Amino acid sequence: MRRLTIPAIRRRKVDGVTAEPIVMLTAYTARQAQLLDAHCDLLLVGDSLGQVIYGLDSSVPVTLDMMIAHGAAVVRGSYHAAVIVDLPFGTYEASPEAAFATASRVLKETGAAGVKLEGGAAMGETVAFLNARGVPVMGHVGLTPQAVNVLGGYNARGRSDAEADKIVSDAKALDEAGAFAIVVEGVVEPIAVAVTKAVSCPTIGIGGSVECDGQVLVTEDMLGMFERVPRFVKRYEDLASVISKAAETYAAEVRSRTFPTPEQTYQPR
Ligand code: KIV
Ligand code: NA
Repeated sequence: MRRLTIPAIRRRKVDGVTAEPIVMLTAYTARQAQLLDAHCDLLLVGDSLGQVIYGLDSSVPVTLDMMIAHGAAVVRGSYHAAVIVDLPFGTYEASPEAAFATASRVLKETGAAGVKLEGGAAMGETVAFLNARGVPVMGHVGLTPQAVNVLGGYNARGRSDAEADKIVSDAKALDEAGAFAIVVEGVVEPIAVAVTKAVSCPTIGIGGSVECDGQVLVTEDMLGMFERVPRFVKRYEDLASVISKAAETYAAEVRSRTFPTPEQTYQPR
């Protein structure tokens, strides 16, 4: 099976209609990528790995080296889905040239098909600059976690008319600049619908709308690894209790000397 291409993903939306919604999940490790690959169109190496893997408070401290290490692992673990890597905070915003230096390192050192960056109209020139130089770009509007220090938290966006209008015009600017898709995160539902109607490229919702052209979740959220999750998460499993129970049983068996048994030990011939 040949890996899905970015142009093939972009072509899912034709004249405003997406017959088959785009399926995206985050992946940070090779094994996780292997398990998710067959089911997804896109695997996102999200900078959410800062919180999920590294225990950071936000995605702000995530480094390019972290993104490259995990991006390469996810590419090695997959062969069907297109892999997209988040550009981390501070590595692309200053200029289109800075963004190209970062993005070209990501593509060369990971083998990913494209990058994602946060921001709206202010990033339009950068999106066009990257696209013209061989770097497909996914946009990200609405609740943009790298801007947490400006936004003041992770509340849903687009509740005021001014904010709603800005989200729609930001998405339009990214679309016109050539973004191949746009993540719409944490916005009131009518705004997710308005963005989806306003742009020619596919929208990928997370706290968006069922009318978006696709959907993404953080895999660990979807698997029930965390006690506290945003409203937009649906838990499809309860892996936190599966893992705790396994560790509890293992610990009890080690302490009671019921593990290992002859089955797990090597005997002399
Ligand atoms: O970092 C991430 O996981 C993301 C998705 C939630 C869209 O940006
Ligand atoms: Na992200």
